[in-house]
Amino acid sequence: MIEQVQKLKQQEQDNNPIWSQVEAKVLDAQVLDGVEDASISHITGTMVYNLVSDGRQALKAAHRVLQPGGIVGMTLGSQAEWMDLVRTFFHTFTLLR
Ligand SMILES: C[S@@+](CC[C@H](N)C(=O)[O-])C[C@H]1O[C@@H](n2cnc3c(N)ncnc32)[C@H](O)[C@@H]1O
Repeated sequence: MIEQVQKLKQQEQDNNPIWSQVEAKVLDAQVLDGVEDASISHITGTMVYNLVSDGRQALKAAHRVLQPGGIVGMTLGSQAEWMDLVRTFFHTFTLLR
């Protein structure tokens, strides 16, 4: 994923300067370590915020780094039948790491 974003950035940044502001990193969504307070305009999480061990902590971290008026976009699908299974899998996997 990181490599894909970096490759896309290389390809696109001459055509669209917004890409110069894109930085790809692997971070714990519950901490967002190294991301300054109020420094981010947008956060997206597709099927992430409902799967982290501590969703409340992840939302606090998102709130910390978002600029005033910043936007969080997420999909959860938490009502799908299989979500309990997926959630259990991720929590177990996290405990085993
Ligand atoms: C269902 S996958 C969704 C991946 C991707 N967003 C997509 O739509 O294909 C859930 C993702 O959440 C990530 N994840 C779980 N806990 C996390 C955490 N504490 N911080 C960051 N990512 C986490 C997992 O590594 C996994 O890649």
